[in-house]
Amino acid sequence: MTDYFPGFGNHVSTEAVPGALPVGRNSPQRPAFGLYAEQLSGTAFTAPRHENRRSWLYRLRPSAEHPPYTAYEGAKNFALGRAHGPLAPNRLRWDPIPAPIEPTDLIDGMITMLANRDPADLEGVAVHLYAANKDMGARAFVDADGELLFIPQAGRLQLLTELGRIDIAPGQIALIPRGVKFRALLPDGEAHGYVAENHGALFRLPDLGPIGANGLANPRDFETPAAWFEDRDEPFEIVQKSLGSLWTTTLDHSPLDVVAWHGNFAPWRYDLARFNTINTVSFDHPDPSIFTVLTSPSDVPGRANADFVIFPPRWMVAEDSFRPPWFHRNVMSEAMGLIHGAYDAKAEGFAPGGLSLHNLMSGHGPDVASWEGASNADLKPHKIEGTMAFMIETCWPYRPTAFALERAQPDYDAAWQGFPKAKLP
Ligand SMILES: [Fe+2]
Repeated sequence: MTDYFPGFGNHVSTEAVPGALPVGRNSPQRPAFGLYAEQLSGTAFTAPRHENRRSWLYRLRPSAEHPPYTAYEGAKNFALGRAHGPLAPNRLRWDPIPAPIEPTDLIDGMITMLANRDPADLEGVAVHLYAANKDMGARAFVDADGELLFIPQAGRLQLLTELGRIDIAPGQIALIPRGVKFRALLPDGEAHGYVAENHGALFRLPDLGPIGANGLANPRDFETPAAWFEDRDEPFEIVQKSLGSLWTTTLDHSPLDVVAWHGNFAPWRYDLARFNTINTVSFDHPDPSIFTVLTSPSDVPGRANADFVIFPPRWMVAEDSFRPPWFHRNVMSEAMGLIHGAYDAKAEGFAPGGLSLHNLMSGHGPDVASWEGASNADLKPHKIEGTMAFMIETCWPYRPTAFALERAQPDYDAAWQGFPKAKLP
């Protein structure tokens, strides 16, 4: 049996029980086995055809059958309102968050670090960290505020979703669409990582322009899971994130009861090692947009609501060039994370699992040691290996949460102290 279907945004038809999927129509008078037909839309009904995303789900009970939601009292650092008031234009960096001491599942282990727009704007992106050491048992999470891009840093995740099971390890990513319920198991007993929560237009593959029809993340390398369900009649909690806060209700059954589905609005996974990295073979460090894996466009052409960008292993061959990222001030705002290894513009202080923020117009670039090393390096071809950094770049300036502001490294500015003054003739 197929566990995953290859392709990005494809129309998939899949059933965990033969005969569960209606043929030739979406909502027959009596679906097979008494299943309930339910449409889940990811775009407006009238979105252009090439952007239109929706799936039809055939399930044991309709999602509509649930008691009222009440405020969820756990996950104290998740879905915090972002800090308001003046925000100093400082560059910020954070050490990895420690492992939880108490048993903590993925929901309670989520920590919101950065956010920009209000989820109700249907624009913007939030950056969360997670640190968990307990499986989600009889409870599921669902995000009405956006799609969730999981970027594991340590420990595997098994994401049991309404539309199938996804296994990912560090170096892979997975996307859970807005509104899709899931629970997370931790095959290694502990898991750490990042989540980009995209409130805006769905992540898609970037246009390739002169690169051509192939390159960067290729569509065939994305994998959508086959239908899978669990038939569990027992108390089952649902925690929902909605309009920036958390809510809970309890069903008498697992909501992961979709026996069959078809459509093109579904979770997927992708192995970052499959990324076809494009770079210079002459001179200069190109703009980092060449490293874009996924983009969520805004209403302004070319200006991303959110870009997911990686800095993967690659050959460096540029002649007469400063090879690491140059000094820059960017109108876009950059949140960076590190999955493993070292980032080539920062030798120290940026640990795997850590996070940095360079908001719009913040001057940044290589630290002194990296600048000195790259300025004096012998420019023979060499390969950057054993590293995977990434960036969630957005046109909306980030605001760190109060939790994040309290925990920022106190000495990050020191990374750019001590550059020798240029000497004019
Ligand atoms: Fe930057």
